[in-house]
Order: sequence, then C-alpha cells, then structure tokens
Amino acid sequence: MATAGPDAPRILVTRKMMADAERRISEVFRATLNPDDRPMSPEEILDKAAQHDGILLTSFDKLGPDFIPNLPPSVRIIATHSVGYDHLSIPQAREKGIAVTNTPGVLTDATADVALLLILGAARGASWGDRMVRENRWGETTLISPMGHDVSGKRLGILGMGRIGQAVAKRARAFGMELHYHSRKPVAAEDGHGARYHARFEDMLPHCDFLSINCASTPETRGIVNAKTLGLLPEGAIVVNTARGDIVDDNALIAALASGRLAAAGLDVFKGEPKIDPRYRDLDNVFLLPHIGSATPGTRSAMAHKCIDNLEQFFRGERPTDLLTGE
Ligand code: DGY
Repeated sequence: MATAGPDAPRILVTRKMMADAERRISEVFRATLNPDDRPMSPEEILDKAAQHDGILLTSFDKLGPDFIPNLPPSVRIIATHSVGYDHLSIPQAREKGIAVTNTPGVLTDATADVALLLILGAARGASWGDRMVRENRWGETTLISPMGHDVSGKRLGILGMGRIGQAVAKRARAFGMELHYHSRKPVAAEDGHGARYHARFEDMLPHCDFLSINCASTPETRGIVNAKTLGLLPEGAIVVNTARGDIVDDNALIAALASGRLAAAGLDVFKGEPKIDPRYRDLDNVFLLPHIGSATPGTRSAMAHKCIDNLEQFFRGERPTDLLTGE
C-alpha cells in the first residue's frame, strides 16, 4: 500500500472504517488509524489531536461540550463520519476557526429503508414475532392472536422533510399510505411525493396513524415529541425514530406505550445511546435497533470517502463540499 509523504497533513481517525477508505486515507494523509476500534474518551482524542492537523470522527464518539474549546491549535478541520452533527458545536468551531464537514446525501436511502423497516416491524410485531419463534412458542398463535396493525392505507406524518424524510415519503407512498409532513418550510411539490404540508407540528399530529421522526436534533427539536405532542396523536398510533434519540422525551413515550395509548414504537436511536432507558427492553410493543440506519458496507464506505473528499479539498485550499462552518 502506498503511504503518504512526510509533509502530508496528519489525520486522526477515531474509529475503524471500511478497508477501502482506510487504504485511501493512508495513501493521501499521514493517518493515525484505530485498528482495534477501541472507543476513545474525549480526553484521549484531545491528547492525540495535538499531533494532528485534522480529525475524522463519528457521532458514536462521546465528545461533550468542552471538546471543541479544548482542541489543540494544530487541528484545523473535523470531518464527521455522519450526516448528523449534533455531537459538535458549529458556533464553537467557527469561533475557533476550525472547519467542520459532514456526509449528507450518501446515507439517505439506507436510513429511509430502516425507517420503513421500523414502521413495518413496529406495526406487524417483528420483535415479539421473532421472539415467539426463537422461544418455541409458535403453538400460541391462533386466528385472533397475536395481531399486528395495518400499514397499507394508513396515514403517515413525517417530522422533518429533508433528504431522508423525502425518501421515507417516496417509500411509504408505495405502501399506499396517506402522507403528511411538518418541516420549517414546505418542500417543492415533486419532493413531497403527495404529502400534505402542516406549518405547525401540532396541527399534523391528529392526522398521523404513524409518526416518523426524520428531523435533525437542534435546540428547537430536542424533546419536541413529548407528553403534550404524543397526546395529539390518535389513539393507537405508532411512532418510529431514525433521527436522534433526544428529540423524544423517553418518559412520555414509555408511558404512552405502557398504557397502550400508543400501539407500538420502532426505535433505531436513543438518548444517551448505547445506554438506553432500560424500560424499553421490557416493553413488548417496541421494535429496537442499535442505530444501524447507515450500516451497510456501501453506505458506510461512501460516508468515509465523503469525509476524505472533504479533507482533501480542505488541505488543497479549496472549500470542502460539505462545509458546515461556512457563511
Ligand atoms: C448519521 O449519519 O447521522 C447517522 O445517524 C449515523 O450517526
């Protein structure tokens, strides 16, 4: 494998990436890889960062609010291997003159596929059905029990109509779902796939047999799915989340699932993950996944290459395509 020359910028890569991406980054940069994929503490990343010009990190790294202020002056760019960047403070990075890039576009389809998996899995009992087979309880099935819930022909509300929300709409349409969405602004008609726009989140909720959370985690959206807003959903609604766990108030969601007011939930993301609220594990009507929205080889490879593209552009003196800290 060709390796980078002695003057190439030094990049710290916090987690093991797809092999093709590790080869490329080692050819272009003096890259410090993490071959054992051992998660690093923020202190360890900060310590290692002193010998690097840039960091390629992930949303799995637990960084905390002091991370960017404490970065050593050698670090000029952070490329996050994620579309979401709520683990990084963009204003802090801007203030320190550190460029930040992310990976939009390349994980849209994979994440929307998982949103549909959650819709179908939560509605049709993927979690309890799988358990019944594994626990040799097939004999308990009758003509009237257990039962799932119909998806086809039902109403889906999409919170956040960005790329992933639109891809969810496109897929849900194929299931004959009636589509609604809320986002800051309406999208162009062709991107809405026939979904009806609601300027207020609260106004959309009574129209949702299913609610799919697809917005970014921001100060405006954190905790927006709470006791009050869940209470506006029709009785027996189903909630799925492929965005970020902190958009949901866990106490409110767990109470609504435990009481049966909500029929089910499908969750790929959790506040404080991987340490999830343990009460989710005891609920039979939740379908749980370990944040795998982008977890396919093609998607993870494309995300890593996008990070490298952005790093190369930056160190060539160009504006990175996915710069978050620009004007
Ligand atoms: C993303 O890219 O934001 C995914 O959720 C993985 O972190």
